[in-house]
Amino acid sequence: MNLLRSLHREGVEHDAAQDDRLLRRRNLEPESAALLAVVLRAAGTRAMAEIGTSNGYSTIWFADALRANGGERLLSVDLDGRAQREAAENLGRAGLADRVELREADGGAVLRELPDGRLDALFLDSERPEYAGWWPHPLRVLRPGGLLIVDNVLSHPGEVADFIGLIEADGGCTTTTAPVGKGLLLAVRNPG
Ligand SMILES: C[S@@+](CC[C@H](N)C(=O)[O-])C[C@H]1O[C@@H](n2cnc3c(N)ncnc32)[C@H](O)[C@@H]1O
Repeated sequence: MNLLRSLHREGVEHDAAQDDRLLRRRNLEPESAALLAVVLRAAGTRAMAEIGTSNGYSTIWFADALRANGGERLLSVDLDGRAQREAAENLGRAGLADRVELREADGGAVLRELPDGRLDALFLDSERPEYAGWWPHPLRVLRPGGLLIVDNVLSHPGEVADFIGLIEADGGCTTTTAPVGKGLLLAVRNPG
């Protein structure tokens, strides 16, 4: 999709000129997004949530995959209303606005409120040190066979170590790390 290529290029240029890390877009790497698009399609993902919308780059990739599966809406959460307004505009340009519920909120608070076992996939791409404090909700909200995806596990191992330790100690998942982009943790919730 040309829009995704231009959004990614603009994001790289924008971030290079922005000193404040929190104001950068920090979009997912295209190769990570492409891998996840294949995985989500293959898994028949229809119900998904994303924590960390930014300007909607990964959101467009995921919403497109869910649409291909005849999916329900994608819930995408971000604390930053300005970023979500940009995401709304970009989703409109992609023809995917009606496929995504954008919610301006804290990811941990939203996960706490979601029902048990309802999601096919959850993508975590926000402030990594917060994830451990959200436990057990990132796993609880997934159905058996559902997929938890965490970005940046190779670029920032120290920031996700506690969270990965909780997943390993729980023993309820089969996990691997895909060495693509900044490192994607893929954890499937085991049945039972
Ligand atoms: C790495 S960027 C997300 C990039 C996006 N997934 C993409 O590929 O385009 C991180 C985003 O997480 C948001 N964020 C940080 N802490 C958050 C929290 N506790 N809940 C929800 N969003 C949060 C930031 O505002 C920022 O937009």
